[in-house]
Amino acid sequence: MHTDTDKSPADVQLTSDAREGRDSVRASLVRLDAMCARAGLDLEGVSAAIVERMRLLAVVTETVRDCERCADLAEQFFAHDDAVKPPEERWGAIERRTVVLASLFSDIGKTGPNHADVSGRRLIAEMFAVENVPDGGISVARFFQLYFATDAGDRASRFRALGLDPAMRMRDFWNLHSVWTLQILQGDGVPRRVVFAAAAHHLIENINPHELLAKDERTRGYFDADAPFDRTVKLVIVLDKYDAARRRGQRSHADAIAWLRQLVASHPRFAHDHELFGLIDSLAAMNPRL
Ligand SMILES: [Fe+2]
Ligand SMILES: [Fe+2]
Repeated sequence: MHTDTDKSPADVQLTSDAREGRDSVRASLVRLDAMCARAGLDLEGVSAAIVERMRLLAVVTETVRDCERCADLAEQFFAHDDAVKPPEERWGAIERRTVVLASLFSDIGKTGPNHADVSGRRLIAEMFAVENVPDGGISVARFFQLYFATDAGDRASRFRALGLDPAMRMRDFWNLHSVWTLQILQGDGVPRRVVFAAAAHHLIENINPHELLAKDERTRGYFDADAPFDRTVKLVIVLDKYDAARRRGQRSHADAIAWLRQLVASHPRFAHDHELFGLIDSLAAMNPRL
């Protein structure tokens, strides 16, 4: 749910809840900074717009905490592989960096399209803050009526001002965040492989991967030698889905792994992807700390 924790102390008498919220946002951003630094990315070299969007997500949603958990899982994953795999199968420095950074930034698109202004970014982030909406088939307009009853009309206008149609289904709206992630990260100091892996993090889901690519001509160029569809992209997908199953889906480790295997096995394109199953096997063999 959205909070008021980004208001300055002058604006509002902070309740202890709000103070805690603000402290946790600050802690989250400090962690983000440290994780980027460990992966070799100095946040100072990344555009201020990207950092500002991450801040908004940390204030309004669980997203940054989710992404940080995925990046932390990635670090645990590499440590586990280092301990049990032969040297030639271990992960190289560029691969590690790609997975950690792509995990951290994969959901930055939950702040809306590149051209969104402050109000538009906030609107979109607040929509993503509402979790467990039971029916993704409802329209955005209906979603506003149900979850933001007091200013649903105003939100629909702000949505329209972004060039988006409030008649679209929520499911289609949610799926847009991958394309927005791509737009936001492109050319802003984030390595190209990272941009691709982040934008591709929902390939395994009900989004047709080719459709994701077709939505934005520029994504096509990411399937080249410079940013291949390799195990780094697949690990970002696996970790994102695993974490979602654990936190949002409240599944145990074993249940999350079984669900993940089933998800891949039933996917028309990835059902026979041995590399993907191998990653899930490695994750299954770990005892991840969340
Ligand atoms: Fe996502
Ligand atoms: Fe995610």
